[in-house]
Order: sequence, then structure tokens, then C-alpha cells
Amino acid sequence: MSTSVTDVKVRQIHDVFVAEVSGVDLRQPLDPDTVAAIEDAINRHAVLVFHDQAITDEQQMAFSRNFGELETTVRAYRKDFTPRLDLHMADISNLNEKNEVLAKDDRRRLNALGNRLWHSDSSFKRIPARFSLLSARAVPDEGGETEFADMRAAWDALPPKMQRQLEGLIAEHTQLFSRAKIGFTDWSEDELAKMAPVPQVLVRTHPGSGRKSLFLSSHAGRIRGMEEPEARMLLLDLMEHATQRAFVYTHRWRVGDLVMWDNRSTMHRARLYDEAQVRDMRRTTVSDGRPTVPDELAA
Ligand code: OGA
Ligand code: MN
Repeated sequence: MSTSVTDVKVRQIHDVFVAEVSGVDLRQPLDPDTVAAIEDAINRHAVLVFHDQAITDEQQMAFSRNFGELETTVRAYRKDFTPRLDLHMADISNLNEKNEVLAKDDRRRLNALGNRLWHSDSSFKRIPARFSLLSARAVPDEGGETEFADMRAAWDALPPKMQRQLEGLIAEHTQLFSRAKIGFTDWSEDELAKMAPVPQVLVRTHPGSGRKSLFLSSHAGRIRGMEEPEARMLLLDLMEHATQRAFVYTHRWRVGDLVMWDNRSTMHRARLYDEAQVRDMRRTTVSDGRPTVPDELAA
């Protein structure tokens, strides 16, 4: 059975963005009208919350592919451990391949702590992420929320003079910058070779809504044509502006929730929790398909 578009209900649950979507079963193949209704909802609301979606990895991948090509996970070039999940499933859990909670000093755990910095997924890749879809399979009793910030609202709230100064700027993003912020430097030669900064525009226009947004991420560490301290200070100021509480939604997870967000117009971060408890979250990521800075301007 596929779902008909008439069943999809979209209800905004925050002052500036975020909608709850009901009337759709993500385990089933969807008809084009339903996919279009979800796309329309995410263009408008930037973050969509689906409840009670007990899906398998295969169903999650199939649902996600309605919206474009999936990214493969970063661990594609890490060879020092056995992945728990398919190459198209990012493992956002605190578990190892035996489904045991990661040790305190496990490099995967320490690296993953970087998810608690505000970011946009894969902004450190030349072609960043469009949508991320995160499914909660096991959640701790408390904590472990995910916060989202609306980068369109952040842009709209900037003084016009500041907006004019930002348009056209190109930032450089790498995981080296974000991980350095928490003192994580344990990279292999292999990894370092693949972590050269990539250019990303600082201001984007969303093709589905025409709205402009700030394209920020903790992976950003430089701005082309600007002295480093000046660039870093500007990025810090913008980050603070963009994550003020009025622009932030806190998602408190229940098992079976699936949250889909638009990385072009939002940032997100994980919040802390008792890591003795299992938090099993799995993410599929739809690639944006092309770079934000065209090749002729990238060099
Ligand atoms: C992610 C992410 C935050 C969280 O899945 O991309 O950053 O709360 N997750 O786990
Ligand atoms: Mn993320």
C-alpha cells in the first residue's frame, strides 16, 4: 500500500521553523505526490519531525533516496575498525561493532563529540549535504537532545549593512578546524591527506523557497581574503547571532522518531547525556549534488 497525498499532515511546532509530519508510513514506498508534499514541507519548515516510524536501515535508505543520492559515510576511508552499518548509514550511536558502549578513550567516541558543536553536515566536503535523516533506535532516559537553528531566520535578522558585507564571501571548511576546537587531533596520514579545506559560500539562496541563509558550521575556520583573526572573530560573532534561543528548536527524542533536516538552511548539534546508556541513532544523508562554489571560483 502506498500513501496518498491527502493523508499527509504538516503542522508547524516552533515559532520560526520545524514541522511535525503525520499521516505517512516511511516503511512503505511513497507515491510522487507524497514525496512532493514532504519536499514542499521541508522547503518551508527546514526541519521535519516524524513520530512512531519503526524503520529498518533498508527502509530508511529507500525513503531517503526519494530525495536524491545518498552520501557514503566518512569512515569509507578509515580502515582501523569494522563498521556496524551499511556504507550509506552514518553511525551516530555510542556503540562499537559488538553493540557495546564505546570505551571512554575510543577514538570514535572522541571524534563524535564534535557533533556537539553547531554544524551543517558534510560542509567539509566539496559537495555538502542537502538533507539528513536521523532515526532514533535507542535513546537515553534523559539528555541527548538534538538542537536545530534556523539560518534563514538568522540571515533575516542581520542588519542590511552586515548582509551586504557578507554576500559573496567564501569560507573554508575542514573537520580539522572543528575537531581542533575540542582538542581532537588524532588523525592518520591517510585522513590528513583528505582533509584539505574546501570552499563554501557564506550566504546561500535556497532553491526551493528563494530564502537566503547564513551557511555556517563549526568546520568553517577561514574566510578568503580576510586575515585569520578577523575571519575567526566574524565566524564566532555570526555563530552566536545565529544560535540565539529564538532561532533554536530542541528535539527531545523518542524511539521511532525520524527527523529530516535541510543542511542548506539549518545548523544542528547534539547535547550531552549519560554515555553509560545506549543512544543508537542512524543517519542517512542526501548529497546536495553540486558544490556551493563553482569550479571556476574554487581555486
Ligand atoms: C548528525 C548529528 C546530532 C545528534 O546525525 O549529523 O550531528 O544529536 N547528530 O546525534
Ligand atoms: Mn550532524
